[in-house]
Amino acid sequence: MMSVTRPYQLTDLSDLMALSATTNCADPRAAYGWLQERWGRVAPVELEPGVPAWLVMGHQEICRIVRNEQLFSRNPHNWRLYNEGAVSPDSGLGPMMFPRDNAYFADGDKHRRLRAPLDDGLAGLDKQRMSRLIRTTCAELIDRFADRGRADLVNDYAAIIPMLAIAGLFGLGPEKRHELQRGLLALFGSGSDSQAGNETVERILTEAIRERRAEPRDDLTTAFISHSNLANDYEIQQSMVLMISAGYETTKTWIAQTLRLMLTDTRFAGRVRGGRMGVDDALDDVLWRDPPMANMPARYALADCEISGQHIRRGDALILGFAAANADSRVHTEDPWLEVGNRAHLAWSAGPHSCPAHRPGRLITRIAVDTALHRLHDVILEIPADQVRVAPSPWTRCPHRLPVSFTSAGAS
Ligand code: HEM
Repeated sequence: MMSVTRPYQLTDLSDLMALSATTNCADPRAAYGWLQERWGRVAPVELEPGVPAWLVMGHQEICRIVRNEQLFSRNPHNWRLYNEGAVSPDSGLGPMMFPRDNAYFADGDKHRRLRAPLDDGLAGLDKQRMSRLIRTTCAELIDRFADRGRADLVNDYAAIIPMLAIAGLFGLGPEKRHELQRGLLALFGSGSDSQAGNETVERILTEAIRERRAEPRDDLTTAFISHSNLANDYEIQQSMVLMISAGYETTKTWIAQTLRLMLTDTRFAGRVRGGRMGVDDALDDVLWRDPPMANMPARYALADCEISGQHIRRGDALILGFAAANADSRVHTEDPWLEVGNRAHLAWSAGPHSCPAHRPGRLITRIAVDTALHRLHDVILEIPADQVRVAPSPWTRCPHRLPVSFTSAGAS
């Protein structure tokens, strides 16, 4: 039975587990289990030294939080430690937690205004055309390494597909897609070329908006331009940047996690290859077991309150522990038959900020996994399964690399 050993104030700073200990470990369930033993379903953790937050691990508790915007804001301007300057401006938490002017970090009416173009734009996409685009992208990437008989399925494949696919949804041609992808890699890499990467990304998006204004087409850029909710080019560009940044790491991780399981878990691979589990079921299995966003930042309490026995103070940050919540016994039964088709997982979150792109995200991931499985013959992982490390992050558990060899690559 779970017990809270003592109530905690986020101003005490002793003896906290780092959030990254739940992602950067062999057995995340054991780490979440340890936290729950000690604290209950809501545990204090450290995001980085000196920056504590609450990790919410209960399924119901997360649903209550994400559905209550009056009490839990998405806007980091309501984060006490950020306002007090306790988080350094160059903190690694910045890309996921520092405020930017888009739907992701907005609440209430502003969120609904900026969110509608995302929903409407995505709903208007032609699925057949999108499938063709993703298929071509995956095939071209495999062609690049087909002759080598070796590849790293994370860095040569999973990490590249989402950016090229999303750039394709914006209607960019092949050359611009690759240029944008190189710019984004530089930008996300935070190295010395990060600023140049940022300029490349801005230039390409600005050009795309200008071109589509002159010549509208059936793509997301045109949908954003013609949406009455977006007031100017700045808001259009911010919406495009949001699509890329929200879609990149998530889709990359989902593809990489599924390929890792196919390569390392013989029962999982056998069920998929033997036809007992379709690729979609396999993808759902990953969303349950290892959701791409294991821990999702964040909501900020707008008033003092209590959740699961913990006293939350106004301005505290709450991290949504999707991986832990997916294992919550209250959303599972003992009966495997009743588990079939259970889609209550929180991989897409819930409430007004839940992922608007779960359909295109699934399409990209399904085609990427399917294409790799069908084209790479006798593919094997070149390192032992227990040596697949995850890339360091408090949020995701994406394999760092998946070096494989294969005897041949079939035609696309
Ligand atoms: C394929 C794997 C993906 C997963 C698992 C995923 C997951 C999520 C989750 C959990 C959230 C909600 C965050 C919250 O409640 O605070 C979210 C939001 C969002 N996602 Fe996704 N996502 C994926 C792919 C994509 C793709 C491909 C795109 C864009 C093409 C995208 C665009 C967005 C946007 C714009 C938001 C913010 C919505 C808002 O704040 O209203 N996602 N995603």
